[in-house]
This record gives sequence, C-alpha cells and structure tokens, in this order.
Amino acid sequence: MHISILGSAAGGGFPQWNCNHPVSRQARAGVVEARPRTQSSIAISTDRQHWFLCNASPDLRQQINQTPSLQPPAHGPLRASPIAGVVLSNADVDHIAGLLSLRERQPLCLYATARVHDVLDANPVFRVLDPSVVSRERLTLESDHILSHADGTLSGLVVRPFAVPGKVALWLEGPDKPVGDALTEDTIALEIRDVASTSRVLYVPGCAALPAWLCQRMRDADLVLFDGTLWDDSEMIDTGVGVKSGRRMGHIPISGPEGSLALLAPMTWSRKIYIHLNTTNPVLLDHSLQRAEVEAAGWEVAFDGMEICL
Ligand code: MLT
Ligand code: MN
Repeated sequence: MHISILGSAAGGGFPQWNCNHPVSRQARAGVVEARPRTQSSIAISTDRQHWFLCNASPDLRQQINQTPSLQPPAHGPLRASPIAGVVLSNADVDHIAGLLSLRERQPLCLYATARVHDVLDANPVFRVLDPSVVSRERLTLESDHILSHADGTLSGLVVRPFAVPGKVALWLEGPDKPVGDALTEDTIALEIRDVASTSRVLYVPGCAALPAWLCQRMRDADLVLFDGTLWDDSEMIDTGVGVKSGRRMGHIPISGPEGSLALLAPMTWSRKIYIHLNTTNPVLLDHSLQRAEVEAAGWEVAFDGMEICL
C-alpha cells in the first residue's frame, strides 16, 4: 500500500492566513525549521496508478499540482485523472471543500457515512458533483468496503470505518447537535487494508478522546496517522488566539497525562505519525522541545509530500 500525505496541517493550514501566533510567524517568515503545510488530506493506492483521497481539502488543487502521481498521465486521454475516489472522515470544511475542485465531470466515487452524505446532499453547492458522473457510496460503520475504480474494477484497498469520539462539523454545531465525545457517524476513523498484504493502517485525523477500547483497537496497527491538532488542550485559549479547548473542538491534545502521547505510549510496535497539525502547535517546528519530545517517544510529525510504502 502506498500512502501520500497531501496535506498535514489542520483546517486553516500552516501558516493560517490570519494567525500571528509565533509558530505561524516562523512559517510565514520562511524559517526552514517551520515548513509550511497545506490542509488535511492523504492519498492511498495499491498500484500508484489509481489513487483514493481520504478527505478533500480546500487546498486540493495545489496538492494535485504538487503531486505528479495525481496528475493526468502524460500520454493519456484528453480528460483523465488517477484520482478514482474520495473517502470522507467527516464533514469539516477542511475535509469537504476540496470536493468543489473535483467538479469537472470526472468519474469518481464518493464514500461517506449516511450522515455525511445527508449533509452534502442538503447543501446544493455540492450538486456540482453531478451524480450521473460522481457516484455515492454509503459507508456502514464496522463493515468492510472495497474501494472501486471508476470502471467498477476493484482497487484492492479495503476500508473499514468506525466511529471515534468526536462531534458534528463546526459549521453544523447548534443547540440541538451533540458536541463532545459522542460516538456517531459524524466523525469516523478509517481502518485501511490492502487485500494483497496483512498491513493495517489507521487514519484518525479527528479524535476527541482515547478510551481504553480505542487504544486497544489501534494497537498492533502497522501505521497510525493520528490527530495531532494541538500540543496542549488549552493552547489556543492560553495564547489568546481562540476561546475553545482542543477537546471542545473534537481534538485530544498530544501532551498531558490524558493526552495522546501518554495514552498511546503502549503502541511501541506501530509506526506512529501525527497529522492534522494546527498552526499554533509547536511540534510543527523542527527544533522545538515539543518536537524532540514526540520523536523521543517514537512519533513522527507529518509533512506535505511525505510518502509511506507498506
Ligand atoms: C476541525 O478539525 O476542528 C475543523 O476542521 C475546524 C473547522 O472546520 O474549521
Ligand atoms: Mn479539521
């Protein structure tokens, strides 16, 4: 299985356009240890000819332009794309806005839970993905789904979605909507396998908490791409850039006794990579103490263009 990290930052990217936090400022100033990053998306493939996006970020056009394997083949038909489909983990803006960049009548399959499909269907702008060209498949929690190419052939990639603690997308929050640790179809993790191998990948870009069952489920994965949005739960409040804690935003922090670094420490066998990094997170800086701490614990910090082969 091939995995390409298209965008390693959280919503807003790094640096976020309106953020003057010291971490963002270093990226904007071009400090080499503060490598800019686009918004949250990965691409997966078994053959490097056909790719499935996991989430479609607002930066998708830029990501495709930066990634030759996602571009039309040099000697292919006049309209072609190696992108065979998109799998959504939630309806956050950083995960769905890029769908609008795929509107030029390219056959694709869009995979999402019923809940997320309903949200997209209720928003007329997504009709630009003409259903006669872009098919929709509903992801059923705890079921295996074999991803298909546009011509119906099977890709060899199997996705098993499951709910993780989280909430509805920010733009759907309201008095009648759950906010907290609900286990619903609003926020899912993707367990990804390749039928030709035993490799197991967990893609979890948003996760509000790590109960024991989830830590257990992630153990022994070959690779986990996990929510690294914030270093500290109160990082945005403490630095004055926001009013919400990480958990309130649906993201468990990395640090602290209840953070992901501590709770996933028993995962010594797996390759572990933090993704979906917020523009204030000091692990974004190559030489920060926080980066050293996560690396000493066996974690890597994703960057755009990172390639993984399992
Ligand atoms: C999140 O990950 O919390 C969301 O991307 C926030 C947002 O939609 O701006
Ligand atoms: Mn996000």
